[in-house]
Amino acid sequence: MKNWLYNKVVIVTGASSGIGKEITKILISKYNCKVIGVARNENKLIEFKNSLLENNQKDFEYCLADVSIKEDWNKIYNFVKNKNCSLLINNAGTILPFQKADKVEDKDIERIFNTNFFSCVNGYKTFCNDFRKNKNSGIINIASVSAICALPGASYYSASKSALTSFSKIVSSEEHKNFFIGTYLPGTTKTNLFKNKDNVKPVLDEKTESILNKFSTSSEKMAKKIVKYIAKKKRYKIIGFDAKLLKFLNSLAPVKSSDLYLRIYKKSKLESFKDTL
Ligand SMILES: NC(=O)c1ccc[n+]([C@@H]2O[C@H](COP(=O)([O-])OP(=O)(O)OC[C@H]3O[C@@H](n4cnc5c(N)ncnc54)[C@H](OP(=O)(O)O)[C@@H]3O)[C@@H](O)[C@H]2O)c1
Repeated sequence: MKNWLYNKVVIVTGASSGIGKEITKILISKYNCKVIGVARNENKLIEFKNSLLENNQKDFEYCLADVSIKEDWNKIYNFVKNKNCSLLINNAGTILPFQKADKVEDKDIERIFNTNFFSCVNGYKTFCNDFRKNKNSGIINIASVSAICALPGASYYSASKSALTSFSKIVSSEEHKNFFIGTYLPGTTKTNLFKNKDNVKPVLDEKTESILNKFSTSSEKMAKKIVKYIAKKKRYKIIGFDAKLLKFLNSLAPVKSSDLYLRIYKKSKLESFKDTL
């Protein structure tokens, strides 16, 4: 049975890597969508387009933009104008190396909030008037389970994703009669997030990343679940086994669970966590 996703024109931010790239592949190949991918690095976008099956390449266009810059949302809006776009997937996001909150520089705090939170506010404000004219429109905000489980060393990432989660749930309610808004909180997923080149050093050292990968969901599986929930118009979802476990621990001990994570970091002696102790 065909659902509301079929044949849509969709904007996917962060379409050149990880979860966004896999979501894009599914939308084009399974739902006959046309996708406008947004990211900053053109080479990665071209590489991705070339990796698509030849008959799918015509369904992928890209718009070079930095979602953390408010003015770039005008650029995105002008690019999609007259293309009948009715779904925005706010997926682009970034993370900082694990550090105690007082040691994080102001410019990095601003960067993380501009990328993870204000980008989604600006995306919403840019498209809400048009989307209100079409009940079959939607916005999906990709937050993170760290919005509800406070991971020491990731204070600003968690805070930006908590802000996004609250904002997204509220606008989902406010716009309920107008168009669909989904808020999804993935658990750890195997992507390039922890190798983010915007940081002066990788977020995780190789040893920590290989341990984390044992509990992580593949980006293909995560994207498949996300698209399934979008197709079913689920308004709020925590996705992944580790995410559900963390949510459970948080419900038992909302503050002490963070103390426990800190003890685990200390015991592990892993390089990535040494600045959190
Ligand atoms: N991986 C995980 O464990 C995990 C867990 C929970 C939630 N998430 C969330 O899932 C989303 C996708 O992350 P991912 O893991 O797939 O990461 P990823 O592999 O690093 O991909 C991030 C994508 O976002 C783009 N991007 C980053 N900053 C941008 C900016 N300022 N403007 C435009 N595009 C930007 C990147 O392209 P350019 O660098 O070329 O711009 C890239 O295409 C993020 O919101 C992340 O917080 C991830």
